[in-house]
Amino acid sequence: MATTSENTSFSLPVRSDVGRAFFAAPSTSSAPVIELRGIQKIFGYDDTETIALDKIDLVIGHGEFVAIMGQSGCGKTTLLNLVGLLDRPTAGSYLLNGRDVAKFRASRKARVRNREIGFVFQNFNLIHKLNVLENVALPLTYRRGLNFRHQQRASLLLKTFGLQNREYYMPYQLSGGQTQRVAIARALINKPSIILADEPTGNLDSQNAEIIMDELTRIHHEGNTILMVTHNPDLLSYASRVIHMKDGRIISDVELTENKAYSTATKFVSRRKNLRRRRGIRRTTKRSKR
Ligand SMILES: Nc1ncnc2c1ncn2[C@@H]1O[C@H](COP(=O)(O)OP(=O)(O)O)[C@@H](O)[C@H]1O
Ligand SMILES: [Mg+2]
Repeated sequence: MATTSENTSFSLPVRSDVGRAFFAAPSTSSAPVIELRGIQKIFGYDDTETIALDKIDLVIGHGEFVAIMGQSGCGKTTLLNLVGLLDRPTAGSYLLNGRDVAKFRASRKARVRNREIGFVFQNFNLIHKLNVLENVALPLTYRRGLNFRHQQRASLLLKTFGLQNREYYMPYQLSGGQTQRVAIARALINKPSIILADEPTGNLDSQNAEIIMDELTRIHHEGNTILMVTHNPDLLSYASRVIHMKDGRIISDVELTENKAYSTATKFVSRRKNLRRRRGIRRTTKRSKR
């Protein structure tokens, strides 16, 4: 069952400007990466009209890890699609790293998307006819096709995800956790500074979810900005900020001060340690490898 914003409780400071038209960027950031003002998205006409986003104002700074929560249909995916330049708003302005991207032509948008933004889709969206290596290398190949260097880079990244033995598997041969790791590897291959993840652990067991979240934490720790849609309140422990949406609006915006970027490194290490402790795994020494 989906967990909604209503049954998540906080004892954390709520941003003082919630309810106003504008959310200030938190202290972890300098210039905003994402600046949305009066963003509206309407699907359909007349009787079929749906206001998916209703005058959203949102500013996200460099290095924030923002969790987006809310009931199904409240506009989370629509928001990510707009931020990721996959869709355009009906009204409002969007500045991405200070640039008015709404005015960009499609080809320029595609270039920005390809270079700066990594998507982890809800349903993975791997290409079924391509093997794992080709899927991961795909964002590198749009302009000049697949070459050896692309393959090398994809191979290296897959190794960091523990998937070096799966390079030539087809997507249907992977488990859910492996598929999601491949999807994240593909999202990261271009070293994007913004990661957009739509319920990245939605269909995973807790062990695989933890692997994915550790990876996102590592990416966050490297200074990247992450927007993650989730229904799981447990995952808020990874975020530096949580936004709740309802009926196309932001109804609360909370900074999770304990989880700011600077504390991420400690958290990352301790999570790994805790995981090992729980599973009774000792660090593999050179001696035991022999
Ligand atoms: N392409 C579309 N055409 C028509 N309505 C849409 C489309 N995409 C989303 N919607 C509607 O917009 C609202 C928000 O959808 P969505 O952003 O997918 O919600 P969430 O991701 O929070 O579940 C829903 O009412 C949905 O039915
Ligand atoms: Mg959705």
